Amino acid sequence: MSKIVPADDANIALAAGALRRGELVSFPTETVYGLGGDACNDRAVAAIYAAKGRPSFNPLIVHVPSLAAAAALGEFSEDALALGRAFWPGPLTLVVRRQRKCPLSLLVSAGMDSVALRVPAHPVARALLTASNLPLAGPSANPSGRISPTNARHVEEGLGDKVAMILDGGPCRIGVESTVLSLLDEKPALLRPGGVSPEEIAAIIGRPVEIAAPVGDVEAGLHGPGRLLSHYAPDRPVRLNAVNAQAGEALLAFGRNAPHAGITLNLSETGDLAEAAANLFAMLRALDRPDVTGIAVMPIPEVGLGIAINDRLTRAAAPR
Ligand code: TXA
Ligand code: MG
Repeated sequence: MSKIVPADDANIALAAGALRRGELVSFPTETVYGLGGDACNDRAVAAIYAAKGRPSFNPLIVHVPSLAAAAALGEFSEDALALGRAFWPGPLTLVVRRQRKCPLSLLVSAGMDSVALRVPAHPVARALLTASNLPLAGPSANPSGRISPTNARHVEEGLGDKVAMILDGGPCRIGVESTVLSLLDEKPALLRPGGVSPEEIAAIIGRPVEIAAPVGDVEAGLHGPGRLLSHYAPDRPVRLNAVNAQAGEALLAFGRNAPHAGITLNLSETGDLAEAAANLFAMLRALDRPDVTGIAVMPIPEVGLGIAINDRLTRAAAPR
């Protein structure tokens, strides 16, 4: 039986009840769907790791309703406060030190003394945070190493048997995960590119943002495990910077003049990067078919949201 339900008030109340009992609920955010659980409940957090099959050293994002709620859980410097005021609610996650008496499960931080916090903008996510009155651990609602879900059906396909319910809020507006910024060290470090650009962050804090070590780097693996090589992998091999599809391949196209032959999906006919980001994971999934030998991907401009798209594509194409 399908776990997908419309995200109306009655179902949000039911979902809040399930979360308070330690069960898992998938909810929409403006970036991707989250796999939500009570972030103060170790059992619920463990259930999230188990459901995702995620390496236990990979810490989870905690969703809260407001900057004040975030600052009650983590230590907020002037920079952190300024960034929260500028970008929350929205697609920015801040990694800060946990407050000394932080009630969050240690498992949510994968044993570290830091925590990743985010105030989501999606009305359903916000309603669920209010109704449950809990900070919600919420990694993307996909099995570990697989493509992040941008609609309720994706969640059902990957994790349908692991959740009490899936709140359907329609397709995600942004379509790639939040920007993850670490404020643990002197220099703010970008651990994962996303909806908020390093330039926008630098403009608020008045100094440059360091781009964390390259994908696959062991240190980066420790500090920003979302940067692990081959983190967003379809089953078929992915070939980047393709001009067209070779025999047997499906084509993930981009832009006006893209070829149409064979199995082709276009991220954006008009070359719109926001539209491309919103389509990215759904189209990668749709092309990841047993009857193709691989997925050829046309080049995406390395500007704005194109940077986050290329980051995901590079990982999808990484050797594994
Ligand atoms: O857009 C998003 O951020 C989505 C939606 C559901 O909110 N959530 C999401 O969560 O993508 P997740 O758990 O899939 O990604 C968490 C990222 C990972 O790259 C993880 O390594 C990093 O945040 N992270 C979490 N806690 C951290 C910490 N304490 N230190 C360093 N990195 C951390
Ligand atoms: Mg994820």
